[in-house]
Amino acid sequence: MAVNDFDSVAPYYDCLSKLVFGESLLKAQAYHLKEIGDKDRVLILGGGTGKLLEYIPKSGELDFLEMSHRMLKRAKRRKFHRSINFIHTDFLEFNTDKRYEVIICPFFLDCFDEQSLHTVIVKAKELLSPNGKLIVTDFDRKGTNSLLLQSMLIFFKWFANLETTQLLDLKSFLKKNDFQENEIKIYKKGVFSALYYQVGKRKR
Ligand SMILES: C[S@@+](CC[C@H](N)C(=O)[O-])C[C@H]1O[C@@H](n2cnc3c(N)ncnc32)[C@H](O)[C@@H]1O
Repeated sequence: MAVNDFDSVAPYYDCLSKLVFGESLLKAQAYHLKEIGDKDRVLILGGGTGKLLEYIPKSGELDFLEMSHRMLKRAKRRKFHRSINFIHTDFLEFNTDKRYEVIICPFFLDCFDEQSLHTVIVKAKELLSPNGKLIVTDFDRKGTNSLLLQSMLIFFKWFANLETTQLLDLKSFLKKNDFQENEIKIYKKGVFSALYYQVGKRKR
């Protein structure tokens, strides 16, 4: 099985997430979407079954990138009142000349080991417009119960061949890669939603 292959968990993913976390993962993902401007080009990375899509406000082009064929199929089945470009690819192989005002990483960065995470962040940086915003929702290593964390890692290692064997310190990683945290909201069970700008790139 290839790494980060979520095909086999796609049919159960939303139910499982609701069972363990209730609506809090979705609420956390939706929190910073108010930052999206009505002409902003938006890229969602690893959007899963697309639950987040109904919370995206009016924007410019909306690209939804997902590597799992079965996750993407579910996302496409949702009803929308706008056009969405669904992109079926591995983000690490994604090429485009487009630049985005907003890139959203909803429980996406926690899939990668250190080397791939570095590549993902560098790539996200390249794709952001100079004043671009990065919205990250994920688990904070320090705030997440270790039993819960280990159970999730074992589950996804088993069923999705998750690339990473540990939850990396994503906030420090982003900071080291020149992303400056602008606002953060902490939720229960170690979940956070944070808004980042690139250091030195933000226009006044
Ligand atoms: C933990 S799930 C989160 C799904 C969704 N964002 C949510 O919060 O419900 C991670 C998602 O990222 C996708 N993914 C993992 N690695 C990827 C990659 N290299 N390129 C694109 N998508 C990827 C998986 O297929 C999966 O749908």
